[in-house]
Amino acid sequence: MSDAPSSPILLFDSGVGGLTVYDALRAVLPDAPVIYAADLAGLPYGTKTEAQIAARVAGLLGRMAERWQPRLACIACNTASTIALGMVRDVLEIPVVGTVPAIKPAAALTQTGTIGLVGTEATIRQRYVDDLEAQFAQGKRLLRVAAPGLVQAAEAKLRGQPVDPALIADVRDRLTAMAGGENIDTLVLACTHFPLLSEELAQAFGADVRQVDGAAGIARRIAHLLEGQSFAPSSGPNRFVVTGPISGADGLEPVLAARGFGAAEAF
Ligand code: DGL
Repeated sequence: MSDAPSSPILLFDSGVGGLTVYDALRAVLPDAPVIYAADLAGLPYGTKTEAQIAARVAGLLGRMAERWQPRLACIACNTASTIALGMVRDVLEIPVVGTVPAIKPAAALTQTGTIGLVGTEATIRQRYVDDLEAQFAQGKRLLRVAAPGLVQAAEAKLRGQPVDPALIADVRDRLTAMAGGENIDTLVLACTHFPLLSEELAQAFGADVRQVDGAAGIARRIAHLLEGQSFAPSSGPNRFVVTGPISGADGLEPVLAARGFGAAEAF
């Protein structure tokens, strides 16, 4: 482990979804050096098995931590966190912050008592989510749907491509068709990609349906864990690193530049 002032925070996701966590982190820790790692060669995680995700995430994070000596790692991905957080914590010797569905804040906000949860196929079937529901949403109705299409839509949107409104409408229709679904007033965005589609979701669900995600809470948690640590004045742009061919990052240039990243690099 390194706590040198130049030691980065490692943010990890299968793709660009973790940028929603990055944005929240920037608001509380503007000077911290960050390496953002997108496992584009493994994207999407949501359609993979638990064993595939756990092995991939633990293996990659182990190698990345060895190479970059980060002071902290954040798994900015609900799918990877709900499956592999414990395993990654066993492997790394630094603090590891996960991203879990924001059921607790949603349960505190709902007025109707009916919450919709949109995640990947892998996330919504996790015991981790059952446990959060049992712990924080007792007496509420939590309706879950998988929306793998939205992961691709968010990836495409950040590369400048249009989002097909039918994809979003389909998610809304599947949720509202469930028993009690017409009463949903709070939507848990249980995938870090989905806040990238918040405008489209607001259009489909209506402005009255509140969207909740974990990004701000995760950023606060990271800032808390790093309290008192110093950060060296930036010696260059933050790094955006991808697995697989570097062309996977084509089209992201404006998004990366706006966030202070240099050109995408290959892992
Ligand atoms: N961004 C990830 C999450 O939070 C998953 C996207 C994927 O399926 O790879 O769940």
